[in-house]
Amino acid sequence: MKGLILAGGMGTRFRPFSHTTPKQIVPIANKPILYYIVENLKNAGITDIGVIVGYTKKRIKKIMDCLGDGSKFGVRLTYIEQEAPLGLSHAIIAGKEFLGNDDFVVYLGDNMLKGGISKLVENFKNSDAEASLLLARSKHPEKFGNAIVEDGKIIDLEEKPLQPKTDLIITGVYMFKPSIYEYMYQIKPENLKEKEWGLTEAIKAMIDSKKHKITYSILKDWWDDAGDVEAFLRANRLVLQDIEHDIKGKLEEDVKITNNVKIGKNTIVKQGTILEGPVLIGEDCEIGPNAHIGPSVSIGNNVKITNTEIHDSVIMENCQIETDKKIGRSLIGKHIKIKKNTQTSHSFILGDNSEVRL
Ligand code: G1P
Repeated sequence: MKGLILAGGMGTRFRPFSHTTPKQIVPIANKPILYYIVENLKNAGITDIGVIVGYTKKRIKKIMDCLGDGSKFGVRLTYIEQEAPLGLSHAIIAGKEFLGNDDFVVYLGDNMLKGGISKLVENFKNSDAEASLLLARSKHPEKFGNAIVEDGKIIDLEEKPLQPKTDLIITGVYMFKPSIYEYMYQIKPENLKEKEWGLTEAIKAMIDSKKHKITYSILKDWWDDAGDVEAFLRANRLVLQDIEHDIKGKLEEDVKITNNVKIGKNTIVKQGTILEGPVLIGEDCEIGPNAHIGPSVSIGNNVKITNTEIHDSVIMENCQIETDKKIGRSLIGKHIKIKKNTQTSHSFILGDNSEVRL
């Protein structure tokens, strides 16, 4: 069985980050989203993996630099270019030559889930199903593909319906036998530039044909599609819940720690600082004096935070922060400086699509 990771998405809901960094490699708990995905595939025994990438040389290079040839994960990665973002079926068809006649797992490159996919893959391998979907319950089914289930069978699918009939949504993990291609071609829009070539519609056509067995399982643990900043911070909170307490750096006197805190080597936590776990701090950081970090904060390598209170946030590498304002619910990119204001007016230097709340 092969894997196909769809990492072409432009991340329009993830601006301004997606201007410089594809959302699939933005770190959650200091690890790019794609790492979690490759690891989940590897743990399920899938080591031959295609990665669909697009549409600019810069984006493609960033993803390739991040994952490499896969050897660091013990897998073989093949990069496949999709020429334009024309839908999930379009992306899978781009990978058709790589997939050949094999069964395959499709894994959307922004999907985070707890518990991995090993059992799912195992069940699919041992079944005669032609497709299998991983479903989850959601409070906002209108934002996703919906699966209408009756008597243990999927009887219908609807993509982002305005009035959902169910709370069961399609996550971004699908398993297929090559018979799915026929249905993808069946639903191919005539003018691809005007209409997306979706995947939900292809699976629906497969269901409607009544010729194939299509199975599903429902995730018991959490799942998130880290498509926008809110979902991204939620995924960060969820991953941090499971970190282990591990302190490699140096703690000065009068540092208070509660709950699990993980600190990388060469990091120094200065006096008067409170670390309220779960908190993850990378290597070569200087935290404090008198900082209050946490709960639910991930800090990348080489970050300096002085005298500042931060909760529920992701701070990427090489940032410098010193302010008497509290920071929360924030996603702060690389090389960002947040300083105290000594003037009566505020001063901003912000890239396109940045967001500030005062
Ligand atoms: C896609 C699918 C949708 C699915 C979702 C899961 O939507 O079309 O059915 O529920 O992924 O992440 P997208 O996130 O591309 O809008």
